[in-house]
Amino acid sequence: MRHATLLSSFVAGLTLAFVGGSAAADDPLVARGAYLVNGPVACGSCHTPLGPDFRPIMDKTLAGGFHFDEPAFNAYSANITPDKETGIGGWTDEEIIHAIREGAQKDGRIIFPPMPVPTYNNMSDDDVKAIVAYLRTVKPVKNAVPMARYNIPQQAMPPAKGLPAPPKSDKVAYGGYIVNALGHCFECHTTPGPQGAPDFAGHLGAGGFEITLGPSMSVRTANITPDKETGIGTWTDAQIARAITEGIGEDGHRLAPPMAYDYYKNMTADDVDAVVAYLRTIPPINNKVERTAFQQKAFP
Ligand code: HEC
Ligand code: HEC
Repeated sequence: MRHATLLSSFVAGLTLAFVGGSAAADDPLVARGAYLVNGPVACGSCHTPLGPDFRPIMDKTLAGGFHFDEPAFNAYSANITPDKETGIGGWTDEEIIHAIREGAQKDGRIIFPPMPVPTYNNMSDDDVKAIVAYLRTVKPVKNAVPMARYNIPQQAMPPAKGLPAPPKSDKVAYGGYIVNALGHCFECHTTPGPQGAPDFAGHLGAGGFEITLGPSMSVRTANITPDKETGIGTWTDAQIARAITEGIGEDGHRLAPPMAYDYYKNMTADDVDAVVAYLRTIPPINNKVERTAFQQKAFP
C-alpha cells in the first residue's frame, strides 16, 4: 500500500508548466513546441527528474538526471534546459535536432537507448523545429548530469527525412504520425524479441514488455492491438481515450506508471481521437499479457 500511495502521488502530482513569457507564447512555433513537449511527446517524462516521493522536481523541469539502470545501459537523462554550462544553451539548433532525430551528439557520441530516437527519426522538420524553439524558452537550470555507460553496440539512426506530418483531416494517418513519430507508444507497447529489443515486425503493439520502476516494482505493458480477446478490440473509443489521458482502465481501475498520462492529458481531443482511430487499424495480435503482481496489488 505504501508503494501505491507513493506512485499515486507520483501520477497525480505532475503539474506541467506551459511557457510563461507572453512574447514567446505568442509565437506559433513556440506554442506548437510547448504543446508537443508537454503533451504527446512528453520529453519531461524522462528529462525532468523525480524526487524521493516520485514527484517531478518542478524547479528542475527538463534539467535531467533521471537514472536508468538496466543491464544494457546505465544512463542519466540529459539537462535539456538552455543552461550554457550544463544544458544545451551553447548548442546550435542543428545540433539539437540531430540529437533528437538521429540520436548522436556533434562529436558522434550516440545517446540512445532509452531515448526513443527511432520514433523521433520520423518527426517532421516543422515539429522538431517547434520543439527546439520551445526548449530555448524554458528556465535554464544548472544541473550537471553524469555520462551514460552502454554495454551494447549502438548505432545512430539514418538521416531523418523530415517529411511533413499528414494533414489532420486524414485522421488515421495523423493518428499514426502521433503514435509513430511523436508519442513512442510502440517502443513501450511492443513485445520484446529474443535479443530484448521490441519485435516491431512480429508483435507491434502486442504488449508484454516489462519495465522496472524500483526494487520489486515492475509493470508489464498492455496489448493495445484491436484483438478482441487480449487487446482493446472491444473497448469503446471513450474508454481508450480515457486510458490514454486519465490512466484509467476499461473496468475503472487505475493504470500503473510509467506511461505519461499526465502529459497526454494535455492532448487536444482531436489528437486523442486520431490516435484511437489509428490504433483500430493496426493488425490484431492475440497475446495475453498478465499484469505483474505489483501492478495488480498497487493498482487494483
Ligand atoms: C525514454 C526517455 C527519454 C525520452 C522520452 C526523451 N529522452 Fe532525451 N535523452 C534521454 C537520455 C537517457 C539521454 C542521455 C543519453 C546519454 O547521455 O548518452 C538523453 C539525451 C538527450 C539529448 C542530448 C543532450 C546532451 O547533453 O547529451 C537531447 C538534446 C535530448 N535528449 C532531447 C530530448 C527531447 C527534446 C525529447 C522529447 C522530444 C527527449 N529527449 C525525449 C532519455 C529520453
Ligand atoms: C513508458 C512506456 C509507455 C509508453 C510510452 C506508452 N505506454 Fe501505454 N501503457 C504502458 C503500461 C505499463 C500500461 C499498463 C498499465 C497497467 O496495466 O496498469 C499501459 C496501458 C495502456 C493502455 C490501456 C490498455 C489496457 O489494457 O489496460 C492504453 C490504451 C495505452 N497504454 C495506450 C498508449 C498509447 C496510445 C501511447 C502513446 C501515446 C502509450 N500507451 C504510450 C506503458 C506505456
